[in-house]
Amino acid sequence: MMKLLFGLWSVLLDLTMFHSQALMQNRIIGGNAAAPNSIRYMVSLQSTSGQHFCGGSLVHRYWVLTAAHCNIGTDQMMIVAGDYKLNVFEGTEQYAKPHKLIPHPLYNSSTNNADIMLIKLRAPMVLNKFVSLAPLPRQGTGVVEGHPCQVSGWGHNGVGGVQAPVTLQSVTVPIVSAARCNSSDSFDGNITANMICAGSHSGGKDACKGDSGGPLVCRGRVYGMVSWGYGCGDARFPGVYTAVSRFRRWLDQTIYGPHLRCFGYR
Ligand SMILES: *[C@@H]1O[C@H](CO)[C@@H](O)[C@H](O)[C@H]1NC(C)=O
Ligand SMILES: *[C@@H]1O[C@H](CO)[C@@H](O)[C@H](O)[C@H]1NC(C)=O
Ligand SMILES: *[C@@H]1O[C@H](CO)[C@@H](O)[C@H](O)[C@H]1NC(C)=O
Repeated sequence: MMKLLFGLWSVLLDLTMFHSQALMQNRIIGGNAAAPNSIRYMVSLQSTSGQHFCGGSLVHRYWVLTAAHCNIGTDQMMIVAGDYKLNVFEGTEQYAKPHKLIPHPLYNSSTNNADIMLIKLRAPMVLNKFVSLAPLPRQGTGVVEGHPCQVSGWGHNGVGGVQAPVTLQSVTVPIVSAARCNSSDSFDGNITANMICAGSHSGGKDACKGDSGGPLVCRGRVYGMVSWGYGCGDARFPGVYTAVSRFRRWLDQTIYGPHLRCFGYR
């Protein structure tokens, strides 16, 4: 089940597919409200009617990193940076339309492999006290099992009608080894080298629908992006994240082009 939520149709589908608890838990589970504007690179992907459906990270004034399964088409999408309470105008928000969407060429929607996409914005975001760039991991680096990482998102809370204020939520989850996550007790061979898993041994802490594309931050860098899972917060099935460090080279080449070396990038 992809952790994308878009429109009433999805909500009804969720209701029929899962038990009613899914509704109550329809966003980051077991977490707390993040401090206002503490995750300044976090962006909300919204429909043109203003409905949040995925998270993302600003990695360049012109570029947003998100999951490939958040691709709903350029014309349908708006990117909001500097937000905290989603449906309250706080005066810190910046809005940009996408110029183009670049899903990874190896993205496979049946296996969820390479679930990563870059969005080039039509106009740059302004970096300030509320908006900054996300630090990325170096190519091929990893995080050891048990390392605590933080995942953030707005999830989704409404079934239509007036929404209560949706405040950015965060939860700390430890990294689960690929061996355990890929074992027959868990995802049974469906974890690729382009994925990392994170979740507590006892369950109850996880990303959920609407958190897709949002950052999993370890040692201050965006090592993962919310990708998929089975339900949310199940001890047997940790959250599965796109392993951002596997794509660092692709990200740099897509953003800066082949003349990368001239820039002395981070
Ligand atoms: C996606 O992966 C499946 C299973 O490995 C494979 O059969 C299929 O051809 C792949 N699809 C694409 C578009 O690569
Ligand atoms: C693994 O993927 C296959 C093919 O998509 C699916 O039928 C199966 O249910 C999955 N199993 C687990 C445990 O993820
Ligand atoms: C998970 O198991 C499958 C099936 O054995 C294997 O093809 C895949 O490479 C494994 N993933 C990782 C990350 O080792």
